[in-house]
Amino acid sequence: MPIKILGIESSCDETSAAIILDNKILSNVIANQEVHKKYGGVVPELASRAHQKNIIPVVNQALSDANIEKNQLDAIAYTRGPGLLGSLLVGSSFAKSLSMSLGIPLIEVNHMQAHLLCHFIEDNGKEKSNFPFIGVNISGGHTQIILCHNYFKMELIGESLDDSIGEAFDKCGKIIGFDYPAGPQIDKKSKKGKRDKFKFSIPNVEGLNFSFSGLKTNFRRCVEKGLNDDIKFIEIESNNLCASLQATIIKILSQKVLSAVAKTGVKNIVFGGGVSANSGIRNYFLELKENLNIYFPKNQYTTDNAAMIAMVGYLKFKEKKFSKLELASKARYKI
Ligand code: KG4
Ligand code: ZN
Repeated sequence: MPIKILGIESSCDETSAAIILDNKILSNVIANQEVHKKYGGVVPELASRAHQKNIIPVVNQALSDANIEKNQLDAIAYTRGPGLLGSLLVGSSFAKSLSMSLGIPLIEVNHMQAHLLCHFIEDNGKEKSNFPFIGVNISGGHTQIILCHNYFKMELIGESLDDSIGEAFDKCGKIIGFDYPAGPQIDKKSKKGKRDKFKFSIPNVEGLNFSFSGLKTNFRRCVEKGLNDDIKFIEIESNNLCASLQATIIKILSQKVLSAVAKTGVKNIVFGGGVSANSGIRNYFLELKENLNIYFPKNQYTTDNAAMIAMVGYLKFKEKKFSKLELASKARYKI
């Protein structure tokens, strides 16, 4: 009998619900929260309130898109963490009450594992990575290099010591007047700019760890200096600023990913997280001539979504890894 699972994601500023039938996604509804735009970042209290408003319509929409009734579900998977506590609580309380009222198992999911495991969602027979693989989680909240031995045995081997890679995009974008999240706009403008117009330094961080906060300071100084010379600096140079910034971010990322390959000898690399939608990062790694097997998620599974939560729900369901109702949500949740 095929398994039908409802996945619920509410860790940050997207309220999302998805239905999976075994490893095939039937629906994936995402409500974005426009309310944060004018603040230049996510406001936690506003996020929780928006989740409360969105959760019932989003779940109903996911069920109706999949043409499924609540009582046909076999289990409910939800994001336990990491994320904003108030936001996590909205999704977890909803998932717990629904599993209780339907009398079906509850499955807790680590959001960061889900960003990587969405790779296993069925996609027209497309080839999947073997284990072990190096998972590269690049999102707004995290920058992690993870050695994945199997679906659930994941070993963190590198991470950012300060800002995440997504924050590098978002904070630099804010300096030149872009709305949050700035990543997609920088990606788009980079295509029209010169990568070597501005030079930003590459931080010297030991091992497989990253640092992105220096880049933001570097970028700010460059913009301030430019504005001193010409008030129209941002307007004139925005494409070149974006292209040079993105090229620097790619360089920082690639150095560490290639070091991880050298260190572990693992040649399969699976990317995940919002920043893995970046076209410059995709092109760079897909064009590498290093005899590596590179996998990127489908675009719709890069930024936060419940399809990835439902996928992990399915993998855990098969191993009967169910969760107790009293499990607490975790703002910090190790992989
Ligand atoms: O995974 P995600 O949706 O949320 C977290 O779990 O953090 O990632 C959001 C991040 C934001 O920083 C956003 O700017 C970035 O992903 N992002 C991109 C692109 N699309 C989204 N960054 C660069 N290029 C993109 N195309
Ligand atoms: Zn995420």
